[in-house]
Amino acid sequence: MCGIIGYCGPKPAAQILIDGLKRLEYRGYDSAGICIGNNGSLTVVKKKGKIRDLKAIVPKNLQGNFGIGHTRWATHGGVTDINAHPHTDVSGKIAIAHNGIIENFAVLKAKLESDGITFKSETDSEVIAHLIAQNYKGNLEQAVKESLSLLEGTYGIVCIHIDEPFKIVGARNGSPLVVGIGEKEMFLASDVTAILAHTKQVVYVEDREVVTVTCDDYTITDLKDRPINKKIDEITWELQQIEKGDFAHFMEKEIFEQPESITRAYSGRTEAEQATAKLGGLNLTTKELLNIERIKIIAAGTSFHAGLVAAYLMESIARIPCNAELASEVRYRNPLVERNTLYFAVSQSGETADTLYAMRELQRKGATVLGICNVVGSTIARESDGGVYIHSGPEIAVASTKAFTSQITAFYLFNLILSRMRHMSFESGEWYLKNMLAVPDSIKIVLDKAAQLKDMAGRYAHYKDFLFLGRGINYPVALEGALKLKEISYIHAEGYSAAEIKHGPIALINEETPSVFLVPADRLREKVISNIKEVKARKGRVIAFCNEKDEEIKSIVDDFFEVPKVPGIFNPFVMVVPLQLFAYYCAVELGRDVDQPRNLAKSVTVE
Ligand code: G6P
Repeated sequence: MCGIIGYCGPKPAAQILIDGLKRLEYRGYDSAGICIGNNGSLTVVKKKGKIRDLKAIVPKNLQGNFGIGHTRWATHGGVTDINAHPHTDVSGKIAIAHNGIIENFAVLKAKLESDGITFKSETDSEVIAHLIAQNYKGNLEQAVKESLSLLEGTYGIVCIHIDEPFKIVGARNGSPLVVGIGEKEMFLASDVTAILAHTKQVVYVEDREVVTVTCDDYTITDLKDRPINKKIDEITWELQQIEKGDFAHFMEKEIFEQPESITRAYSGRTEAEQATAKLGGLNLTTKELLNIERIKIIAAGTSFHAGLVAAYLMESIARIPCNAELASEVRYRNPLVERNTLYFAVSQSGETADTLYAMRELQRKGATVLGICNVVGSTIARESDGGVYIHSGPEIAVASTKAFTSQITAFYLFNLILSRMRHMSFESGEWYLKNMLAVPDSIKIVLDKAAQLKDMAGRYAHYKDFLFLGRGINYPVALEGALKLKEISYIHAEGYSAAEIKHGPIALINEETPSVFLVPADRLREKVISNIKEVKARKGRVIAFCNEKDEEIKSIVDDFFEVPKVPGIFNPFVMVVPLQLFAYYCAVELGRDVDQPRNLAKSVTVE
C-alpha cells in the first residue's frame, strides 16, 4: 500500500527520494510524487503510474537537499496526477504525504471549505495540509500536533514547511513510520527497505508519537510534548536481499530461496537431545504452555492459509483443538475469549490492518496473542505478547511465497514443543525432527524440476478458470495454489476440498476448466482418486501433483508433476512450492507484472 519517504541531508534529495520510492514499489501503488525543498521554495512533482513515469518528469536540475516522497494506493479519489501525494496547502508553503485513511475527512473538509479553502484533490489526505496551515504559527511541529488532535482514523505522515528548511515532521497512528539515522543525514520512511541502501540504524515511531528530524538529529515526543527516549535498532537485512540478482522477478527469487529460508526459520530452534524445539520469544512458561486447551489463529491472505495448515497439524499431532479464522471476520463478531486459549496472529508484514485490529480487540478482552511475523519491529511483532520471527528475509514480491513456508515451519516447531510436552514419545519426536530437517532437500528436488512446471504453464496459461483441489492438510494448500494463480496471472481459480466438488463446483467442470489435484500417497489418496475420476467422467482436464512413481494416478490424468514422497504431515511444503512455480510461470507466460500485480498491495494497512 502507500509508502512514505523523507530525506534531510547533504545529498540531492530528489535522487534519494526517487530511489527510495523505487524500493517501495513492491508494496503496490498507482501513483507517486515528491516534494523538494530548496532556498525558500517547495517543488512538487507527482504523476499517476509507475516511478519511471514520475522520474521522467522530474526536472534534471531540480535542486534541494530535503524533501518528502510518496507512493499512493488509491482509496479516496481516483488514480490521477492531482490525487497523488504530496499535497500542499493553499499557499504552497506546506507539503504533506500521508498513509492511512482519515475517517472524519468529510466533516473536516466541509469546515475547511466553509473557511474559504478550495481543495485541489479528491483525497482525504489533503485536509491534513490545510489543517496544518490553519494551525501554523511559526512552529511546524506544534501545528502538526494541533492538527492531529482533529483527525480520526489512521495515519503515517511526513510534512515539510518552506520556512523551516532541513526539517521534516512525521507522526504515526496505525501506519508505520521509522526514522533512519545516517551520517549527517536523516530519513523517515514507512518501511526500512526504502532506506536500507543508506543506513541500518533505525528508530521505530509508535502510535501517537511525533518525530522531528533535521540533518543530524531527531526528537520524538508524544502529543503532549513529553519527550520519548527510544532505543536505536539495527536492521539485520542486507541490501542484496532486496535486489533481484540474476532472477527475472523477485517472486522467482523468493520461490527459489525456500530451502534456505526454511532452514533459517528452524535454525537454532531444534533440540536434538530432547527431540523437541525451543522458541525463545513465546514469553510463556512450560506450565503456561501445558495449560493451553485451545489454539486460535487469525490472519489474512496467504498467512491465513498458513494458519489453516497449522490448525490441521496441531489438532492432529499435538491433539489440541485448533482453528484458523480470517482476522477481518474475528474483529467484528464480538469474539469470545475463552480461558486457556492461546491466539496466534500470523502476518508476514506485521502491519496488516485486519490482523492488527483483530489482535488488539482480542488483547483488550484479555487474550494472549503471539505473533508469527517476518518483519522485525513491525507493529504486530511489537504489540503481540510474544511470538516467533520467521527470518525469511525481505519478501518483496506482492504474492507471498517464502513467508508461507517459513510461517508453517514456525508452527511445525511449536507443534513439536506442545506434542513433546504432552504425549509424543522421544522416538516420535526424533522422527518428526528428522523429517522436518529434510524438508529443504525435498524442496530442492522440486525446484530442480522447475522447467517441467514452466512447460506445463505454457500448456495451461490460456485457460480462463481453474479448480484447485486437495484434502486434509493439503486442502489449505489447494486454497493457496488458487490464490497464487489468481493474484499474479489474473486467471480465475477456486480452491476446494476435493471431497466438496460434488456439492457444487463439479457443475463447473468441462473441457475448458482444468482441475489441479493434490494427491500424495496419504490415507486420503483413494478418495481423491475417486474425485479425479468424477472429473474425468465429465470431460474435465486434470493435472495431478502426486508422488514419484505413482503410476496409477499418472495413467488417469492429463498432466502430472511428481513431488518427493514425504510423511503425510509434511506434504504442504512439497506441494505448495510447485503450485507457486506453476502460478509464476503462467503469469510470465501471460506477460503479467508478476511482482506488482494489478490492484494488489504487499502490506494492506487499511481495513
Ligand atoms: C496482502 C498481500 C498478500 C498477503 C496478505 C496478508 O493481501 O497481497 O500476499 O498474504 O496481505 O499479509 P500479511 O503481511 O499479514 O501476511
